[in-house]
Amino acid sequence: MRIVETISELRVSTIAQVRASGKLVGLVPTMGALHAGHLSLIEAANQRDDFVVVSVFVNPTQFGPDEDYQRYPRQLARDAQLAEQAGGDLIFAPSRAEMYPDDHSTWVEVEELTEGLCGSLRPGHFRGVTTVVTKLLNIVQPDRAYFGEKDYQQLIVIKRLVRDLKMPVEIVGLPTVREADGLAVSTRNQYLDTQQRAAAPRLYQALQHGAQAARKGASGTKVESVVRKLLASELRFTVQYVQAVDLETLQPRGQAGVPMVITAAAYLGDTRLIDNIKIEEDAINAENDG
Ligand code: PAF
Repeated sequence: MRIVETISELRVSTIAQVRASGKLVGLVPTMGALHAGHLSLIEAANQRDDFVVVSVFVNPTQFGPDEDYQRYPRQLARDAQLAEQAGGDLIFAPSRAEMYPDDHSTWVEVEELTEGLCGSLRPGHFRGVTTVVTKLLNIVQPDRAYFGEKDYQQLIVIKRLVRDLKMPVEIVGLPTVREADGLAVSTRNQYLDTQQRAAAPRLYQALQHGAQAARKGASGTKVESVVRKLLASELRFTVQYVQAVDLETLQPRGQAGVPMVITAAAYLGDTRLIDNIKIEEDAINAENDG
């Protein structure tokens, strides 16, 4: 698997040639430490696009001062192997200086959508994400870029970014990959100790109960209280938020019902977990018709 570290090498000796031969380019942006969730994105890109770039860059600007930037796992050789097996064609692994030269002074910010949920608890996080994703899209100029629905707010924010800035790329969102017990696959799961790991699937179980209530017609507020009550019964969780929000605007659903996405963030010890369940009207109609 070829690993390219500079923007000029990627553009001149690779992307230009791939494009000249009329091939479609897919981009899977990652911070490395690839897991089954990333691999599902690479596999999907490999099915749709002719040439798949996997970027590996632990983006410093999306971590808060007290977050895990320093200890975030870095394992490029392993990532390259896994990406190749999943159908990636090239790893782009730039240095911090390549992405953020000392005199870097331009930021990309999506307003409103970034104000609630994780945005209100991680100031500056989405500004870091949208800035680095803009850089990656400009560098690679893919036809499609792939993101997981686990980071639902991130996906919606990136879709808006691309729409508002008229970027010629399709953003593809793909379902969350889960462990056998339902826990959403995440790099940060490896920080959990044995007891925390045993408790972690309760987050998704609580969301599933909320989804059941929503499908029976409960309002957003009611759904949130169902999920909160279940999370409160697992004392190891410190809940940051549980919110039922609109699929596109991310505004609270309040007294309204489906469609909605139920989102939650909770700490287990020092490890922050997020997860969500999307409930679409069509799915409910199909269930009732079937
Ligand atoms: O989801 C992630 O891993 C990161 O936020 C992303 C999109 C690669 C930007 O650094």
